[in-house]
Amino acid sequence: MPEALSKDESEVTFEALTPHIGSLAQGIDVSKPISPTVMARLRRELADRSVVVLRDQSLSPEQHIAVSRDFGPLEKHVLSNFCLPEHPEIFVVSNIIEDGRHIGAHGGSKRYHSDLSYLVEPSMGSLFYCLECPDEGGETAFASMFAAFDGLPEERKTWLADRNGVHDYVWNYERSHSKNRAPLSEEQKTKTPPVLHPAVRTHPDNGRPALFISDVFTRTFEGEDESESQALIKELMDFATQPAFVYVHKWRPGDLIIWDNRSAVHKALPFDEENTRRRMHRTTITGERPFYKG
Ligand SMILES: [Fe+2]
Repeated sequence: MPEALSKDESEVTFEALTPHIGSLAQGIDVSKPISPTVMARLRRELADRSVVVLRDQSLSPEQHIAVSRDFGPLEKHVLSNFCLPEHPEIFVVSNIIEDGRHIGAHGGSKRYHSDLSYLVEPSMGSLFYCLECPDEGGETAFASMFAAFDGLPEERKTWLADRNGVHDYVWNYERSHSKNRAPLSEEQKTKTPPVLHPAVRTHPDNGRPALFISDVFTRTFEGEDESESQALIKELMDFATQPAFVYVHKWRPGDLIIWDNRSAVHKALPFDEENTRRRMHRTTITGERPFYKG
């Protein structure tokens, strides 16, 4: 017999935003405690649709942290100067300058990636909340790595299912940030050695296979030539991020997005950083080591 729903729970609905990725949740006020039944539905929706959008939320940092903890323990970002002083679980993403300094990290990655994929245990996902945003630009694009893997030819799926990707933070830092950021110290480099992850990972909640590479952090396939790997990674990511597999979120203040790093990649779209303001709060949920169960 289905579990009886309370009145509040029966008003919760989910609507697909695109065929493959994204779900609009309605009837949930995440500033209040969420019942176990609604939480289970949210988790299932996140697992199946990779991105859940909730509109018109009003969240204090404490409330944002509380709802985030319902999904798992939280990371404290390494760039602690961009975390809220009283709430180190909240990472500020913003182009705003106050008293001569940026109040948050700015210029988020404009290329598709899965957050912290260069760690042995990459983060599971994030809850990203919009306080201010420009009328134009600054959207976040998400691509379904379930749809990407499902759509590949069988021969390629078989090849990938047998491969590890090498995720290399230092390699990406040195090729991307050599002009605008200080070089990494030897200590920082030692802390982030290259990490191997299966190129296809099984989602622990629904068992679906998802492609798990990115052209930001994946340097090679283990044991393969680097330039051939790079060409293949580019080809695979172009396929994975074709418009049919993508949801682009146009932000409004009060929007909260929960995304799943295990089955989606994301990127920031540009906006007029000189003349408009964008202020976002992000929490990051810790994750587990990726695995593939063929
Ligand atoms: Fe990111």
